[in-house]
Amino acid sequence: MSYGLRPERALFLNENLFDIVRMRVMKPVEIAKNIYDVGVNDWNIRDFHGYSTWLGTSYNAFLVVDEKIALIDTVKHEFEDQLLDNITEIVDPKNIDFVISNHTEMDHTGALKRIMHRIGKDKPIYCSKMGFKNLPRHIGSEFDFRAVNEGDTLSLGSRTLTFLETRMLHWPDSMFTYLSEDNILFASDAFGQHYAGFEKFDDTVGDDIMAHAKKYFANILLPFSPLILKLLEKVSALGLDIKMICPDHGIIWRKNPEKIIDAYLRWSRQESNPKAVVLYDTMWHSTERMADAIATGLSSEGISVRPMHLRKWHRSDIMTEVMDAAGIVVGSPTLNNGLFPTISDFLTYMKGLKPKNKIAAAFGSYGWSGEAVKLIKSELGDMKFEVLEPDTKIQFVPDQKGIESCYEFGRTIAQAIKASS
Ligand code: FEO
Repeated sequence: MSYGLRPERALFLNENLFDIVRMRVMKPVEIAKNIYDVGVNDWNIRDFHGYSTWLGTSYNAFLVVDEKIALIDTVKHEFEDQLLDNITEIVDPKNIDFVISNHTEMDHTGALKRIMHRIGKDKPIYCSKMGFKNLPRHIGSEFDFRAVNEGDTLSLGSRTLTFLETRMLHWPDSMFTYLSEDNILFASDAFGQHYAGFEKFDDTVGDDIMAHAKKYFANILLPFSPLILKLLEKVSALGLDIKMICPDHGIIWRKNPEKIIDAYLRWSRQESNPKAVVLYDTMWHSTERMADAIATGLSSEGISVRPMHLRKWHRSDIMTEVMDAAGIVVGSPTLNNGLFPTISDFLTYMKGLKPKNKIAAAFGSYGWSGEAVKLIKSELGDMKFEVLEPDTKIQFVPDQKGIESCYEFGRTIAQAIKASS
């Protein structure tokens, strides 16, 4: 049996191989003196509530061992045994004095109930005010929840934890915890990436990780861009000297935390490149031929183009390309007087993520009624994009003249993109 599977093939791993892969657990990693990542790798997850995770993900949890011992966040329910094993390699779980819950979502609290029963259900769980309201609805109300305010501190003995509210980044309960003596920011979901690997740091994993960080931002954090800009301003005003950022997913930023902070600034400003995404679906290749001609026209004007067929690319990968593209061109055949279903799916998904500052255009082939293009334009207009007129529609199969008109349409879109930058 080989591990040399294409990532998507791992969906079909049989039970025996699954057991073998589960044995490749992540051991605790000492990230600073007496501070450990006791989290786990989820090698085989391929769909994280609709987001494609071809390299799996990790659920990071952190143990700070001082005069008092704190556990910061936990892991998904099915990995609670691994978390307990990892903690036990460092300390007896009963010796943990309290838990910090930076975020209520179940990938970080799924194991919390079991952990509390192991460490002692009378031990405090510190969380934000919204966490105080929402955590009992996830794990039951029998625990000692304690709400913290912005700037509150908690002493571990020689170390101090400070809490920062990060409401709606990306849940109402989200918060950061800052360990001042070690200059470590425990950042919950922020600055994360869906990535499973034994390389746990930016200096060991290499620059490829930025593509995963970008995808994570595009598909999770993009709607909160204005709040992220304010948060980064707040962190800067507080003058925190951040030497290490520990997200709850993926690698830890220790060599160059500024790199991911700078990227977040850029992505939050929704700065775009002279680039267009031509996304489409097709029934008999007519809309596909139109897409190819439009992409060629865009490229002839020096615009970087990504043609993306919606049944060949995952919506989360398309969204990653859309995030920094100045242009988005959407094509659909007309099916039963409406949009092709994958187009509706993607437009709904994109609308929720609130990308901004796009030049948009629509095209498509049709047989007899041809409503799809009008429907696309209506959706793109609702997203406050600058929708170009006219659109391009072709009945049945594009002939040479039709292909040339699509090429010219691509050039027109390119000129609008250049004029807007
Ligand atoms: Fe990783 Fe919002 O949970």
